[in-house]
Amino acid sequence: MTSSLTIRRPDDWHLHLRDGAMMNAVLPETARHFGRAIIMPNLVPPVVTSDDARAYQARILAALPDGMDFEPLMTLYLTENTDPEDVAAAYADGLIHAVKLYPAGATTNSASGVKNFDNVRNVLEKMAEIGLPLCFHGEVTTDEVDIFDREQVFLETVLDPLRQSMPELKVTLEHITTSHGIDYVAGASGDIAGTITTHHLMINRNHILVGGIKPHYYCLPVAKRREHMEALRAAATSGNPRFFLGTDSAPHTDDTKENACGCAGCFTATNTMSLLAHVFEEMGALDKLEGFSSLFGPARYGLAPNDATITLVKEAAAVTFPEKINTPVGPVTVFNPGHPVHWRVA
Ligand code: NCD
Ligand code: ZN
Repeated sequence: MTSSLTIRRPDDWHLHLRDGAMMNAVLPETARHFGRAIIMPNLVPPVVTSDDARAYQARILAALPDGMDFEPLMTLYLTENTDPEDVAAAYADGLIHAVKLYPAGATTNSASGVKNFDNVRNVLEKMAEIGLPLCFHGEVTTDEVDIFDREQVFLETVLDPLRQSMPELKVTLEHITTSHGIDYVAGASGDIAGTITTHHLMINRNHILVGGIKPHYYCLPVAKRREHMEALRAAATSGNPRFFLGTDSAPHTDDTKENACGCAGCFTATNTMSLLAHVFEEMGALDKLEGFSSLFGPARYGLAPNDATITLVKEAAAVTFPEKINTPVGPVTVFNPGHPVHWRVA
């Protein structure tokens, strides 16, 4: 039995830090274990311009507790009014590492996202030219399409046609939840990668709905059938460098989750590395954890892996995590997989 595993310090390629008091409370949860993270720009109002990103980056660094070493990798929120030259300048300055595309209405704070893809073609063409990755929330949003089919329909009607027409564009299909998404990323030609969250490796739609509705398991894209979860687990542990970790850790206070109209998002920053060790061990693939969480993401983004390491230790007794993180705006429930976990970060 492996009881200890040392890997390069991980990075998180999809993280929601929010702002203000919430950010102050959740930032240490990520910075404790992770060296860097791609910071999602879906604030209210969103991070649209390079000036917005520079100001947000400064607020994150100011909120970082003394002694913690963490680098926020900034992104811009693509709107139909985004200026391609502003995007290119922010990338040339080293300020941003990706642009985020939310189809309008797809998820939390996506109202300013893209309705008509023709209106962002100029930005996407510029990004293809300069090699700046597009982080894509991969769901269609039309009422006619069932919420459980929205990723699959997106691949067929949005992503594939876009990539055919712009083969040089680097795309990251974010938080993949279906075998269709896995198959697309694994099989496509050109420059494509996909991120996988911690929670989608551990829950499927039964966990959300059987035995009473579990608001803390509700996120977008929503977890799908068990067979899709199995496909995600196989891809994450396969050693294929196209798949790497983006936790999509998305804090919402309990009052907004445990609500007649509950918010989407699972908060996994606190215990992600323990949970991943659990999953990778179950899959007989602990040797693949470092690639998934610490090597493939930096390679994709043209960065070196972190120099530092972390050590995961397997304990005989189950590890306990805080049930909630207290913030000045209310408690945030930490993702609980519903079964014991024995791995902790030393
Ligand atoms: C995210 C959030 O809360 O900002 N929610 C979620 O369920 N993942 C938005 C997102 O990434 O879709
Ligand atoms: Zn997200």
